Amino acid sequence: MSNLEQTLSIIKPDAVERNLSEEIKQEFKNKGFIILKEKKIKLEKDEAEKFYQVHQTKPFYNDLCSYLSSGPIIVMILEKENAVLENRKLMGATDPEKAEEGTIRKKFGISIDKNSVHGSDSQDNAKIEIDFFFKD
Ligand code: CMP
Repeated sequence: MSNLEQTLSIIKPDAVERNLSEEIKQEFKNKGFIILKEKKIKLEKDEAEKFYQVHQTKPFYNDLCSYLSSGPIIVMILEKENAVLENRKLMGATDPEKAEEGTIRKKFGISIDKNSVHGSDSQDNAKIEIDFFFKD
């Protein structure tokens, strides 16, 4: 049965500043994702705090929000069958050192913080995250 989904993807500051955005977008397209919408933006720290509020009790929350707001990012709505899970597979494990060969984080990630991409972790969060960036 068809299960066309949308998910939110972010190309993080480490990848944008190394000019990897086009190469990363091509990775998504090669796997059959359609980029429905995209924009390049720079978040303020308080906006990053709101975006990552699910992590607010974590010890890495402050560094994470400083990092996401440290430079331009590209936010995208990706569409594909089972997009949430398929995007998580394509990104690989959060820590690039643990990510499988062929995944985006393995190829481009520098560290667990500078792991090049973010992707929604569930359909519910995909809706929330898409609204966060594209509700206007
Ligand atoms: P992301 O998918 O954007 O979601 C939250 C981010 O927190 C994660 O990618 C990592 O870049 C970052 N992070 C930093 N430290 C950790 C950690 N110990 N465990 C999980 N995520 C971490």
